[in-house]
Amino acid sequence: MAKRAFVTGSSHGLGAHLASRLAGDGWKVTGLGRRPEAETPGTAGVDYIQADLSRPETVERLPALLGETPDLIVHNAVSYPPRGAQELSLADLDSVFRVNALAPYRLTLDLLAAKPDTRFTSVVVVNSESMYHADRDSGVYAASKAALRVLTTALADVCRSRNAGVATLLLGPLADPDKVEQLRRVAAGRGVDEAEITRIFLRKSNPDLVIEELIDFESCYRSVQYIADLGRAANGMVCRLDGGSAGSLI
Ligand SMILES: NC(=O)c1ccc[n+]([C@@H]2O[C@H](COP(=O)([O-])OP(=O)(O)OC[C@H]3O[C@@H](n4cnc5c(N)ncnc54)[C@H](OP(=O)(O)O)[C@@H]3O)[C@@H](O)[C@H]2O)c1
Repeated sequence: MAKRAFVTGSSHGLGAHLASRLAGDGWKVTGLGRRPEAETPGTAGVDYIQADLSRPETVERLPALLGETPDLIVHNAVSYPPRGAQELSLADLDSVFRVNALAPYRLTLDLLAAKPDTRFTSVVVVNSESMYHADRDSGVYAASKAALRVLTTALADVCRSRNAGVATLLLGPLADPDKVEQLRRVAAGRGVDEAEITRIFLRKSNPDLVIEELIDFESCYRSVQYIADLGRAANGMVCRLDGGSAGSLI
């Protein structure tokens, strides 16, 4: 029988790629995002739940909606703060933290509690090297991801007694289509090579990076596969695909 995977944030970006690649590799995939299904890539083999993870009722009803706890859970959904940090209301802040940290935590606890001990579940938590770099603009996002990282460690302790493993996939700047398009436009405007503009962007956005290209979605998928294949040994692991951006000692 096909193994079951659940991918949050599957309606766009990296999550859409992960859901589609898992389905292509024979997983029975359920994805989740906020936009209507008609506005998603609509990949064959991916069932879609339209739901808002900032709402408590979504998190409460998801275990029943999913039925059996999936064999693989990928917490990928992300809420980027909608405005400059100085303008965020308490409700905005609450929503960012719910989507990025609290929903994955609560949902993982509930899904693990609902699963028989005989079945192993891998949980992959997508995180960001941004958590190491807080300034006035990025601090809220960074703090939500830092909270997610600490909660993931707490989940790893829970996993020990629940026949499950939770690992962090810690990513650096991704080659998401919007970013690539922006860089392409800048390169065309200046009449320079796109690869050179990307190198300049990476050097400026994070001077510690040792990579000169954005991280491609496929490398992220292969990392998810690797973590899932490791099974129990991946519990508590941090798989860093981040261009070395947090420095050599971390
Ligand atoms: N992009 C980067 O350079 C980068 C770098 C490091 C780490 N990461 C991490 O990689 C992951 C994917 O990032 P991305 O840039 O690919 O994201 P993205 O393209 O902005 O997509 C975010 C996904 O999350 C969903 N989402 C947002 N708010 C939601 C909510 N309230 N309820 C349910 N779903 C919600 C979105 O659904 P709708 O659009 O349908 O609302 C969308 O499917 C994130 O965990 C991010 O932190 C990204």
